[in-house]
Amino acid sequence: MVNLETTFAGLKLKNPLIAGSSGLTNSLKKIRELEDAGIGAIVLKSLFEEQIENHSEKLSQLSDYPEAADYINAYVEMNHKEKYLELISSAKAECSVPIVASINCYKLARWTDFAKIVQDAGADALELNLFLLNAGEFADTWLEDSYVNIVRELKKTITIPLVIKMAKNISNLPGLVAKLKALGADGVVLFNRFYQLDIDIKNLEITSGPVFSNPSDFSDTMRWTAIVSGRVPDFDVACSYGVHSWEDAIKGMLAGAGAIQLCSVLYEQGPAVVENMLTCMEEWMQQSNYTRISDFRGKLNYANIGSPSLYERVQFMKYFSNYR
Ligand SMILES: Cc1cc2nc3c(=O)[nH]c(=O)nc-3n(C[C@H](O)[C@H](O)[C@H](O)COP(=O)(O)O)c2cc1C
Repeated sequence: MVNLETTFAGLKLKNPLIAGSSGLTNSLKKIRELEDAGIGAIVLKSLFEEQIENHSEKLSQLSDYPEAADYINAYVEMNHKEKYLELISSAKAECSVPIVASINCYKLARWTDFAKIVQDAGADALELNLFLLNAGEFADTWLEDSYVNIVRELKKTITIPLVIKMAKNISNLPGLVAKLKALGADGVVLFNRFYQLDIDIKNLEITSGPVFSNPSDFSDTMRWTAIVSGRVPDFDVACSYGVHSWEDAIKGMLAGAGAIQLCSVLYEQGPAVVENMLTCMEEWMQQSNYTRISDFRGKLNYANIGSPSLYERVQFMKYFSNYR
């Protein structure tokens, strides 16, 4: 008998599939549909500091009185937060799977403020949607230092598990993850996928690029999952970015992931894809004589294969040299 139960960042999951933070996790109705489809945990849509600030800025421009502007700012902020906290508490009351809150801030004081309120509202864990773009104005280590400083502060503030959703462009990813682990982080998600840009060559305008990932994006996620899980032992890594099939989920776990986040595939195929993926994963485990996820998790990670350099190969060189 196959058992898909697992743990991730201190959370007990009935299976490793997690709905990633997105518009699919911003209402109780959608969350319930995902739970009915069999999902193992849910990361709520992020609460954005910037969204709150933009909204209050626009409204306060309508007022000539500074007192009124202050009042509007405070009201808008409270309203946004209240709605988010209501979503956490209703999801907790009506669902049995773990509910993970997600926040995105840019001021240190806000990270701690938001983290505390989502913990108080009953979230089972907190995921940090953390990325700051360095367009050249900051020092080389500014992004890495920001991860470290924010995690250090949050570990002083909250007691629920803390998961960090990582950006791809970190110069020494295993090194940074090891630092976050030492600071008490409970897990990382590889990777966040940010808003994509494009250029409209007819109107010479910056436009938005593709909203969803492609199956080909998964290769990079798999490589880094294997390297990080091999280099930073006894630490939970979840795959995200490019998981489009049950085979990807199995590959992610062979590479060392303890959980698998889904987003684009849920948008494209609907919640029913979860049940199909779980059935196929169970069948594969049965055929491979594995009864639990721990029987094969990390079997092919950087630390467990004979030639870890396979994960370091980045140049085509002799490979595909005859490719036309
Ligand atoms: C429409 C949409 C909205 C998203 N909103 C959020 C968000 O609020 N917070 C967050 O951390 N990630 C957000 N994401 C990123 C996803 O959680 C996920 O990391 C990314 O899409 C990569 O996974 P995928 O390849 O399975 O799509 C969003 C993605 C999409 C497509």
